[in-house]
Amino acid sequence: MRHLIKNIGTIAGILEDGSLRKEGAAMDAVGTLENAYLAIEDGLIATYGPSDEMPEENGFDTVTDAVGGFLLPSFCDSHSHVVYAGSRDGEFLDKINGLSYEDIARRGGGILNSADLLHNTSEEELYRQSLERVREVMRMGTGALEIKSGYGLTTGDELKMLRVIKRIKETVPVIIKATFLGAHDVGRAYRGRQADYVKLVCSEMIPAVAAEGLAEFVDVFCDQGFFTVEETAAIMEAGARYGMRPKIHANELAVSGGVQVGVSHNALSVDHLERTTQAEIEALKGSGTMPTMLPGASFFLGMPYGAAKDFIREGLGVALASDYNPGSSPSGNMRFVMALGCIKMKLTPNQALNACTLNTAYAMGISDTVGSITKGKKANLIITAPMPSLAYLPYSYQTPLIRKVIAGGKAID
Ligand code: NIG
Ligand code: FE
Repeated sequence: MRHLIKNIGTIAGILEDGSLRKEGAAMDAVGTLENAYLAIEDGLIATYGPSDEMPEENGFDTVTDAVGGFLLPSFCDSHSHVVYAGSRDGEFLDKINGLSYEDIARRGGGILNSADLLHNTSEEELYRQSLERVREVMRMGTGALEIKSGYGLTTGDELKMLRVIKRIKETVPVIIKATFLGAHDVGRAYRGRQADYVKLVCSEMIPAVAAEGLAEFVDVFCDQGFFTVEETAAIMEAGARYGMRPKIHANELAVSGGVQVGVSHNALSVDHLERTTQAEIEALKGSGTMPTMLPGASFFLGMPYGAAKDFIREGLGVALASDYNPGSSPSGNMRFVMALGCIKMKLTPNQALNACTLNTAYAMGISDTVGSITKGKKANLIITAPMPSLAYLPYSYQTPLIRKVIAGGKAID
């Protein structure tokens, strides 16, 4: 199957130096080529070049005219909770009326509310609702998506969520990665017995998840009012025994110590980071851990935005993901995430693009196969309307500029 994209105004996101992530000053560099074509073979980027060197069209099965638009790598969204049942619009009203995220959680709402809804929803219906969200984000240009469990909070319901993620993975043309987040909150039956719940996560849930090969990563909500640094370490160590690499929720509600314990356990990413100090930046230096910020959650909950600029100035890379979930970020629109990166976090459009593509691909362990325009990488691509610059995409953040989305070399509808 050969697919040619012609009349590309600008290819942006070209990377041929083999780097798996961008850090520091390199975050502001985006490789570009104007007036170009790109050829896809068997779902992979075969080659690209200037239009005047374009091969004959009749050697291709499909030809797409980009009519002068930009060609970009698809967004990679390395942090989402899109498998959930129903919604939490009732709590949205509570928030409007002044309750905080933690107030709602303390009243037994929040994550536990979603766990109750999920428990009372069949696996088939959960699959149907979740697949709809995955299709929604695919249409908005997401070409790789990490999905977490964590609204089960019993062994059976966590497995139910992860089986739904597996089915989604087998259904859609984008890359799906699964993360086990049994320690998202303490399940209702264990309220007041948090230590016993952590034991359940380590000695029953993790082995059960591993036995079915349902998750590649292990996550813990390491934050004030949720799980401690010690509990997080124990869960990461249990996960490591089954080959699960950590991706940790840290520093959303308080400076939690989650960054340091994540780095010391070789976490692939530490996520949220709305509240950090210089100590977190120092801990991350020289590590393989990608600091990942979730500006959609800052926007929705009115929290501070992560200090991405400071991290980059200190030579670190930063990734931006959606956190699509019913409680703190009911949107998986990565283009909006990119715009928030620019508007609220003062990233340049180049930095924001790298943060939403290559660096999020790194935070899923797949930046060798997606996240940039690279020969041999998967052809998961976005074609935009003609734009005067890359900056126009986050600047004109509501205009429907994404004209075509390609996943595995084929256009999706
Ligand atoms: O990443 N912070 C923890 N977990 C989610 C929120 C989950 C929820 O409220 O349902 C988050 O923001
Ligand atoms: Fe999250």
